[in-house]
Amino acid sequence: EEQAGLERFNALIAEDSRIEPRDWMPEAYRKTLTRQISQHAHSEIIGMQPEANWITRAPSLKRKAILIAKVQDEAGHGLYLYSAAETLGTPREVLNEQLLSGKAKYSSIFNYPALSWADMGAIGWLVDGAAIANQVPLCRASYGPYGRAMVRICKEESFHQRQGFEILLELAHGTEAQKRMAQDAINRFYEPALMMFGPPDGDSPNSQQSMEWKIKRFSNDELRQRFVGMIAEQVKVLGLTLPDPELRFDEEAGRWVHKDLDWDEFKAVIAGNGPCNAQRLERRREAHENGAWVREAAAAYAAKKAQKAQV
Ligand code: ACO
Repeated sequence: EEQAGLERFNALIAEDSRIEPRDWMPEAYRKTLTRQISQHAHSEIIGMQPEANWITRAPSLKRKAILIAKVQDEAGHGLYLYSAAETLGTPREVLNEQLLSGKAKYSSIFNYPALSWADMGAIGWLVDGAAIANQVPLCRASYGPYGRAMVRICKEESFHQRQGFEILLELAHGTEAQKRMAQDAINRFYEPALMMFGPPDGDSPNSQQSMEWKIKRFSNDELRQRFVGMIAEQVKVLGLTLPDPELRFDEEAGRWVHKDLDWDEFKAVIAGNGPCNAQRLERRREAHENGAWVREAAAAYAAKKAQKAQV
């Protein structure tokens, strides 16, 4: 039976069809998807924090309303992705526990502080921009629930990216101090945003298998250079610069070349030693504890309803 399952699985992958939750799949495929989707969900949940910290300080009612909506979208993406991960068999409580205990990874980018209002612009433009560049190909991921989740998430992410760009555009056309603030935010977020795509291809243990399984469609470096090419053009519209004197398009290779990134810093951040890791996890644990009464009330309500249905 396992042999038949494997043959069918391989055939579905080969013909670019989708694997669905009830289909037979290799344990390693289930495991790597659970890993990637849950890390992605955790990133959305932790990723609410740098921006949530600015809601009360947004410069106008309009900006405040937009920022609240954006942070809410991220909560939605997280819950949506936990649901997709659960279809692979690991309950949400277990995934949540992995995050709270510090065992699970989440995106390196959310361990950097958001120091100024311009950071809301840089996060939208660069961080959500990198997220889209990485996630559009994931809409075609071989696992059905993940690919479908990505379609909706990418639509919302592109709105997020535009609102970030618009914040920077306005600051870039503002006073000298505002322009400096925008440039400073770009300077700080450029390298961490490029690191979001993951380690260089030669140092990416999961890539080869994930590409064979058609979870990933492009390599980390491939997507990174593509993204750099997009922002190299967009930054001109802002009248600002990217902090990368080596940035150029290599005509011969047909790809963008950027400066070397500090991979030691990247390793430190994903090992838990970035500037904000401890704070992010502490806030998440606090929020989880403060939400206990909601979970208890919801469970009590569900139990009461179930009892009523019995009589
Ligand atoms: N931050 C934290 N950890 C990372 C990052 C990063 N930017 N990039 C890679 N890693 C981790 C991987 O999770 C992997 O660790 P693990 O094996 O313990 O799970 C390790 O570094 C080696 O990397 P790869 O072999 O390249 O891992 P993978 O094939 O999973 O590729 C990638 C990494 C590109 C991030 C992939 O998992 C992916 O596309 N994920 C979905 C997108 C996502 O999670 N986005 C979250 C941030 S954007 C946002 O949500 C707003």
